[in-house]
Amino acid sequence: MSFDGYKTVIKEGDSVILYLTINQYYILEAKNTAVSKKGATVQNIFQTPYGPIICGDLIGKLYGTKIQLKKGWAYVLQPTPEFWTEILPHRTQIIYSTDISMILFYLELKPTSIVVESGTGSGSLSHAIIRRIKPSGHLYTFDFHETRAEVARNEFKDHGLGEYVTVQTRDVCTNGFGKEMENKADAIFLDLPQPWLAANYTTQVFKKSGGRLCSFSPCVEQVQKMCAALSNLGYQDIQTVEILQSQFSVQKKKMSVLNLNILKTQNDGKCEKSEKEYVNFITSVLPNSLPGHTGYLTSATFPPCY
Ligand SMILES: C[S@@+](CC[C@H](N)C(=O)[O-])C[C@H]1O[C@@H](n2cnc3c(N)ncnc32)[C@H](O)[C@@H]1O
Repeated sequence: MSFDGYKTVIKEGDSVILYLTINQYYILEAKNTAVSKKGATVQNIFQTPYGPIICGDLIGKLYGTKIQLKKGWAYVLQPTPEFWTEILPHRTQIIYSTDISMILFYLELKPTSIVVESGTGSGSLSHAIIRRIKPSGHLYTFDFHETRAEVARNEFKDHGLGEYVTVQTRDVCTNGFGKEMENKADAIFLDLPQPWLAANYTTQVFKKSGGRLCSFSPCVEQVQKMCAALSNLGYQDIQTVEILQSQFSVQKKKMSVLNLNILKTQNDGKCEKSEKEYVNFITSVLPNSLPGHTGYLTSATFPPCY
């Protein structure tokens, strides 16, 4: 329920992030009861490595509260697209937050933007798009896999985002985006195995004022075909980037320095060896491992056609 904006108090049915550590967090529902695997109504208890939590007890608590567990403690936090990307049930490969941040930037999204996306997949990117464009923008997202589209639709509804998104089952590579999408979009995003086929239908989808397109592909051969297709279709500013996030480690270090104040000048004008001194300082250290490849982002501008 509470993906739609920030709240102070946890209400019955709200989604809550139970944050144990930077690498350990879960999503749960603030509800007194749950349905067991056997179909019986039971008390809603969530098990964590630090002990169980009775989910109904969260109702009425403030977001941000520190909760005592049997063997430790946790914070109850607002759900965000970033948390969701880390813990969502994977139905497909998903796009992660580093690439997502650049996709939102390349698409130049803002509240009021009308965005077309395919495929919907597990809805990882869709959650971030919706947060950026609401309350007056809209996301039209297409997936040809009926069950995936249905599950995503229900998930958006459960998260209180239903009014900002329309999920459609459609093969956009064969059938395009449909008559009703003509001259509607400010931005188009494609995460498909053959995006160049869908690209053929994108030019009708943009508003007369043009817009921005971005496509995610894991392989460079896909990128080559996509860039060629975009160029043939009249797209401009075509560029492809690979976003590799390398995380530096911030560490305390000790270093010996020359203390010029205690240098003594001898009769012959030479300096005596100085005494060693050490200073503590904070520095950042290069990461031990190289960041892994996720995919290439190709972005382009579709020019206005009045
Ligand atoms: C990698 S997933 C997308 C993941 C999504 N971007 C996310 O962040 O969760 C690709 C999706 O595209 C869908 N798809 C593949 N070909 C398609 C087509 N021709 N038309 C519509 N959807 C398609 C698949 O069913 C799959 O769900």
